[in-house]
Amino acid sequence: MTVEAQSVLVPHGADAAAIAALSWVMFAGAAIIALGVLAFAIAAYRGGPGLRKKLSDDRFILTWGAIVPTAILTTLLTYGLTLTGARVMPAAADELKVEISGEQWWWRVRYPATEQSSAFTTANEIRIPVGRQVEIKLSSADVIHSFWVPNLAGKVDMIPGTVNHIRLTATKAGIFRGQCAEYCGGAHALMAFHAQALEPAEFSEWLIDQQQPGIAPVTAQQRQGSETFLLGGCGACHTIRGTQAQGTVGPDLTHVGSRIALVAGMLPNDAKSFSEWIANNQHIKPNNRMPPFRIFPPAELAALGIYLDSLK
Ligand code: CUA
Repeated sequence: MTVEAQSVLVPHGADAAAIAALSWVMFAGAAIIALGVLAFAIAAYRGGPGLRKKLSDDRFILTWGAIVPTAILTTLLTYGLTLTGARVMPAAADELKVEISGEQWWWRVRYPATEQSSAFTTANEIRIPVGRQVEIKLSSADVIHSFWVPNLAGKVDMIPGTVNHIRLTATKAGIFRGQCAEYCGGAHALMAFHAQALEPAEFSEWLIDQQQPGIAPVTAQQRQGSETFLLGGCGACHTIRGTQAQGTVGPDLTHVGSRIALVAGMLPNDAKSFSEWIANNQHIKPNNRMPPFRIFPPAELAALGIYLDSLK
């Protein structure tokens, strides 16, 4: 699965496109104004006495120092509010609702119940249908984080004790990288996620899959891994629906094997990465809330990784 280059300059969302257009208008305007100021400065420095007198004339200063900047800034404000602001704000009737909570240093994602589907929780990724507006409720469990998928929309802070909203609409199928855009502690730079825009039919399938309980282990190694998971106390912090593991401190792992990446975008999603994370997580993401589990013998650790990877 290829992830699109994370860039504000390559919008694949209606809101990101409006913001990118505004940015280009501002960039072009600022470039023209900067060149104008430079021309005036050169004229004032190098020009003859006649030109310099003109440049220091009251009317010239009033025009170029007050009237023109006021006109430009008023136009820009009107443009920003009407064209960009108005496009980014309004709610569509059939918008999909998602709730995301920022946590040090991962993303708790909840899809609330709708007429078609029951509620479920996932982590570190959102999947959305192409062409349909999504409203995301943003909150935080600890410190201020900021939700940002540059290819799809602008960024909005996630603030403890309040709920902010962001709306986005993907105009193209693909996987887009997002990241926390507000310094939130030591591992802030290790707090990424993915937003995958799927064709509506594929999205409906994904919704159905996500509502199922975790897949029961089939092979001997998967069974061993499942046993290790439950006996090792992993369920105190993690949920795998359909098992006794019902903890909610850490990410829900019911379908963790189907996710685009592990550890908030830091590791590829494979059995080896799971084992690596379980034993060395404090090295991979210092001070995260999961203790390093070095208690498992290598065979058990490998089985645990294989079991978690099987939770598609
Ligand atoms: Cu969360 Cu920076």
